[in-house]
Amino acid sequence: MTRGRLILIEGLDRTGKTTQTNLLLEKLGPNAQLIKFPERTTPIGKLIDKYLTERSFELADQAVHLLFAANRWELSHQIEALLRSGKHVILDRYVYSGVAYSSAKGVRGMDLQWCIQPEKGLIKPDLTLFFTTDTAAERQGFGDERYEVEEFQKKVKVKFNDVFKMFENPDYRVNHIKILDVGNKTVEDVAAAVWSLVSDHIATNKSTDFMYF
Ligand code: TMP
Repeated sequence: MTRGRLILIEGLDRTGKTTQTNLLLEKLGPNAQLIKFPERTTPIGKLIDKYLTERSFELADQAVHLLFAANRWELSHQIEALLRSGKHVILDRYVYSGVAYSSAKGVRGMDLQWCIQPEKGLIKPDLTLFFTTDTAAERQGFGDERYEVEEFQKKVKVKFNDVFKMFENPDYRVNHIKILDVGNKTVEDVAAAVWSLVSDHIATNKSTDFMYF
C-alpha cells in the first residue's frame, strides 16, 4: 500500500491558510486529517498559547523556539502513523514557520542554521504551498497575538525567502515548494489553485519512502 502524502500549507499571517486547509480537508474527505501548528492543546502547546496570547508571559526567545519545535516532535509519531496507514495529512504551518518567525526576531546567534537544528529528523512534507501577498492592504486586520504586528510580519516575509533559499541548497534536498500569490484572489480562486496542485501531486507521487529535515 502506498503511504499518504504530507501536504503543508505555509504562509504569512492573514493569508487565508486556515480557510484553505479546511477546504482542502473537505475535498480530500475521510482519507485525510488536518493538523495545525502550533497544536495548542498539548502540554507544550498550552505554554505556546500562553506565550502568544499573554504579553506579560515572558520566555527567552531561544526557549520559545525550542517549544515550537518540541510541539512538532510531540505530534511526529501520530503524523508518521497516519501516513503509513495511507491517510493524507494536511499541515497548517510547520518547520518553515518555525525557522522564519524565530530568525526574524534578530536575536544574536539565532540564525537560520541555529533555528533548523531542533527540527532535524522531522518528516519533510511531500508538497508545500506557500501563501504570500505583495499588497499590505490584504494583510490588514491582524489579531492581538504577539507576532501579529505589521513591522514584524515584514521581517518574517523576508526570512521565509531566506529559508526557502536555504532549502534549495542540495544538502537539504528541497522538495516541491510552490509559491502562491494570494493577493487580490478570491477564496474560490485560491482553493482551485490549491486543489489543482494537490490532486496532481497525489496522482503522480506514489513513493513509500519518507524524506526528513
Ligand atoms: P497561528 O496564527 O497559525 O496559530 O500561529 C501562531 C503564531 O505562531 C503565528 O504568528 C506564527 C507563529 N509560529 C512560530 O513562531 N513558530 C512556529 O513554529 C509556528 C508553527 C508558528
